[in-house]
Amino acid sequence: MNYLSAESLAKSFNDRWLFKDITLGISQGDKMALVGENGTGKSTLLKILIGQLSADQGVVSVRDGIKLGYLVQQPQVAGHLTINEIIFDKNNKVASVVKDYEACIHDAHTSAERMQHVLELMEEFKAWDYDAKVQTITSKLGVLNLDQRFDELSGGQRKRVFLAQMLLAEPDLIIMDEPTNHLDLEAIEWLETYLGWPADYFADGYPRSVLPGQRCK
Ligand SMILES: Nc1ncnc2c1ncn2[C@@H]1O[C@H](COP(=O)(O)OP(=O)(O)O)[C@@H](O)[C@H]1O
Ligand SMILES: [Mg+2]
Repeated sequence: MNYLSAESLAKSFNDRWLFKDITLGISQGDKMALVGENGTGKSTLLKILIGQLSADQGVVSVRDGIKLGYLVQQPQVAGHLTINEIIFDKNNKVASVVKDYEACIHDAHTSAERMQHVLELMEEFKAWDYDAKVQTITSKLGVLNLDQRFDELSGGQRKRVFLAQMLLAEPDLIIMDEPTNHLDLEAIEWLETYLGWPADYFADGYPRSVLPGQRCK
C-alpha cells in the first residue's frame, strides 16, 4: 500500500537549485534513509514531503487517512509550555481523551452521561495504557521531569521531547530529521527495537546497512 508519493520535486533558494527531479514513493513497511552533506537540502526535502514547505516544481501526495509523524531537526515552541503540555498536545487525540477522562474523574460534578461518553472514548482510542506508554517512552528517552519548561531545555533535550511526542501520537508514517544526534547508544537501541527496525539501522545517525539513495527493507 502506497503511503506517500513525490513526483519531479524541485526546490531552489536564492536562484540556486537545491535539487531537481526527485521522484520517490514510500509504501507500508518501507524504510528509507536520506544521506547527504550538510547544506545539500535534506531538511528542505523532508519539509516538502510533510507539506510544511512548498516545492517550486512537482507534487507530493499522501494517501487519505495516513497520519504523518515528523521530527523536525531543531524543535521550537512559542511561549512557555511545559514538557507535559507538549506531550499531551491537543492534536494527539489519545492524549486529549486521557486528559478529558482525568478531568472527569477529578470533578465531583461530572454527569453520568459525560462519564459514560468519556469511558467509551477511552475504549475506542485504546487509551487505558496511555499513561504507562508516556512513562516508558519518556524514561527511555531520558525525559525525566515532565513539569520542566521547554524553553529551559538544551537542544538535545528538546529533540528528545519532540521524539517522545511524535512516537506517542502513533503515526502511520514517520519522517525524522537527524533523529539520533542527541541520543545515547542505549536510547538508540531502544528506539530501534520500539520501531522494529534492523539493529544496525541507526548507527552513527546513518544506517550502516543503507547506502545513499538506496532502500533498506
Ligand atoms: N528558508 C530558507 N531560505 C533561504 N535558504 C534556505 C532556507 N532553508 C534552507 N536554505 C538553504 O538551503 C540549503 C539547504 O538547507 P537544508 O535543507 O537545511 O540542508 P541539510 O538539511 O541537507 O543540511 C542551505 O544552504 C540553507 O542555507
Ligand atoms: Mg538538515
